[in-house]
Amino acid sequence: MPTISYLERRRELETYFDRTAVEAWSRLTSDAPLGRIRQTVRAGRDMMRRTLLDWLPADLAGARVLDAGCGTGALAVEIAKRRAHVLAIDLSPTLIDLARKRTLQERPDGNIDFQVGDMLMRALGRFDYVIAMDSLIHYRAEDMVKVLGHLVSRSERALLFTFVPRTPALTVMHMIGRTFPRKDRAPAIEPVSATGLASLIGAEPTLADWDQARSHRITHGFYTSQAQELVPA
Ligand SMILES: C[S@@+](CC[C@H](N)C(=O)[O-])C[C@H]1O[C@@H](n2cnc3c(N)ncnc32)[C@H](O)[C@@H]1O
Repeated sequence: MPTISYLERRRELETYFDRTAVEAWSRLTSDAPLGRIRQTVRAGRDMMRRTLLDWLPADLAGARVLDAGCGTGALAVEIAKRRAHVLAIDLSPTLIDLARKRTLQERPDGNIDFQVGDMLMRALGRFDYVIAMDSLIHYRAEDMVKVLGHLVSRSERALLFTFVPRTPALTVMHMIGRTFPRKDRAPAIEPVSATGLASLIGAEPTLADWDQARSHRITHGFYTSQAQELVPA
C-alpha cells in the first residue's frame, strides 16, 4: 500500500517526533506546567482519549488491541488497565523509550508490548481493536483512507481513529501557523472535511465491508480533532 507521499510524510514524522519535538511532546503528555495554548491542547487531547476509551468495553480481558502511533503511551496504558494485551507501536524510538519508562510506574493489569516501527508492518498480526489517535492526521486524506483499509484487515471488532476536520476557524489557524519559520513547524496537519472523508471511505474498496458508526468532534481551544469508529458491516 505505501505510496510515495505516505513514505515521504512518514520520514518527516519520524524526524519530527524522534528529534525536533521530543522535548515538547514529552512535556505535553506529562503533568508538567504548560503555557495557556498548550494547556488547551492537553485538555482537548485528554477529552479525545476519554472518548475513544468510552467506545471500548470496560473489560478487555483477553482482547488484543493495537495502539497505532502510540507516542508516549498514555492511551495504551489506559487500555492495558482494562486487562487487554496491547501492542503499541510508534515510529519514534525515543518516544517508545519514554513510553516504556512511564509504563513501569503505572503497572497496568494487562500487558503492553511497545515496538518501534511502522503501524502497517504485516508481522504485527491480528487484533480485536485497532486505535489510531491523532497518528493519521498528518497524512493526505487519500493516504489516510488507504491506511484505514490496511488496518481494518487486521481488526476483528472495530477500528477507532481520529482526523482533523476542516473548519473555517482551523483554516485561519493553519494559515497563521504557516507564517512561522519552517524549522519550528511540525509536518503539516492535513485537515479534511468530515463529509469529504466519509465519501472517500465509502468509495474505498478495502473498506467496503465496514460501516462508519459513531463519530464525535472535540473542539477545545487550540485542539480540534474528530473521532470516527468503523465497525464490520
Ligand atoms: C500526534 S502523535 C500522537 C501520539 C499518540 N497517539 C497520542 O495521541 O498521544 C502522532 C504519533 O504517530 C506516530 N506515527 C505517525 N505515523 C506513523 C506510522 N506510520 N507508524 C507508526 N507510528 C506513526 C508518530 O511517530 C507520533 O508519535
